[in-house]
Amino acid sequence: MILLGPPGAGKGTQARLLVDKLQLMQLSTGDMLRDAVAAGTETGLKAKELIDRGDLVPDDIVVGIVSDRLDDPDAQDGIIFDGFPRTLGQADAFEAMLSEKGIRLDAVVEMRCDNDQLIERITGRYTCGNCGEGYHSSYKKPKVENVCDVCGRSEMRQREDDTVEAFRARLLNYYKDTAPLIGYYHAKNALRIVDGMAAIEDVTKQIDAVITA
Ligand code: AP5
Ligand code: MG
Repeated sequence: MILLGPPGAGKGTQARLLVDKLQLMQLSTGDMLRDAVAAGTETGLKAKELIDRGDLVPDDIVVGIVSDRLDDPDAQDGIIFDGFPRTLGQADAFEAMLSEKGIRLDAVVEMRCDNDQLIERITGRYTCGNCGEGYHSSYKKPKVENVCDVCGRSEMRQREDDTVEAFRARLLNYYKDTAPLIGYYHAKNALRIVDGMAAIEDVTKQIDAVITA
């Protein structure tokens, strides 16, 4: 399944919930690229500046890391793609990859959003630096302030690209390069639409309903 939506739509939030619920694997190209930056790999060095500016990383790099990840043993039981594909070039390469590896695409879920509310989602977001659980200063607070509900550590972080400028660039790139995928997958009869502005648990229910329908 692919989760498609602008920055702050809730792709990562829903992917993590669905992983637990449906025993799937989350494949987030954003997380993979940020890990590569933190590890200082060649990919990370190429990607860092682009990510910090809110620009897309070149297709060949992203397609390469996704293709490699799909060969891992834990990728054989079902995958939620969070943030991939996000250009028509990536979508075409993904099609070829799926048929080569014998993987079936079940659904593309568009998380439809009110653009005016996304900035608040982005600037209020923080993440556990240890386990990656995501939080929000208004919508998803940990039970104990500054302590992760999942792993109990106090290592909350904000993403370097969660500035107003980088968010604007990410939103622009979404509408320029990624939104055409909505029509692409609609034409392939794979598109399902949910209300990304509903409460977190309601969005999960809607996704559950459209993928089991
Ligand atoms: P990526 O990490 O994918 O960032 P993004 O697409 O900008 O999306 P976000 O992660 O910001 O938002 P999200 O939808 O996951 O929202 P979240 O669940 O956290 O990519 C980052 C960068 O990496 C790109 O700019 C690019 O440079 C590069 N990159 C990645 N993939 C690439 C690719 N395929 N090709 C090229 N380059 C690539 O939620 C946001 C906040 O809102 C959280 O605080 C959450 O708690 C809260 N929230 C979530 N849902 C709700 C709700 N329903 N109600 C209230 N609050 C909510
Ligand atoms: Mg995300």
